[in-house]
Amino acid sequence: MKTAVCYYSRHHGNTLKVLQAMAAEGSMDLIDVTTRQAVRLEDYDCIGFASGIYAFDFQKSVVEFARQYLPQGKPVFFVYTYGGAKGRCAKAVKAVAAEKGCRVLGEFSCRGFDTFGPFKLVGGIAKGHPNARDLEKARLFYRNLRVTLKSFIVK
Ligand SMILES: Cc1cc2nc3c(=O)[nH]c(=O)nc-3n(C[C@H](O)[C@H](O)[C@H](O)COP(=O)(O)O)c2cc1C
Repeated sequence: MKTAVCYYSRHHGNTLKVLQAMAAEGSMDLIDVTTRQAVRLEDYDCIGFASGIYAFDFQKSVVEFARQYLPQGKPVFFVYTYGGAKGRCAKAVKAVAAEKGCRVLGEFSCRGFDTFGPFKLVGGIAKGHPNARDLEKARLFYRNLRVTLKSFIVK
């Protein structure tokens, strides 16, 4: 059972830390959407999309990547980190998945260290996040997601 997660993580690598914790559980390939590479998402059983929240939604390159490469009808899930105001969360990428008839298996989010704009002046917000507890929750999320996926594929 193979999973790919297409991600953007630039501010402090917060989202990547969460994904690496999940990937340590096994069977997950991480695809940075900003690097040019040949992707064949058809070869995976399930596709995740992940991003820090930028201006209240996923970073645009993840949404564009989903529009271009997500195969019709693939099961999907979403992962994101945010400083303090999730806003629309994964709304834009969810809309793409819905257009392509993809079933949503779940969504994981936690806070991520944020030094954007004025927050830099106070040393940032969500300091220390994702922390050990966040990462443990992320691992649990992915373990449960794999169980759900298994029953979904078997049916
Ligand atoms: C340009 C920019 C815009 C951001 N906009 C938001 C936002 O609208 N809401 C929020 O809660 N956090 C916002 N943040 C904080 C990030 O979502 C947070 O730090 C996240 O964990 C970054 O993920 P990354 O390190 O994986 O890129 C913003 C950060 C930057 C640099």
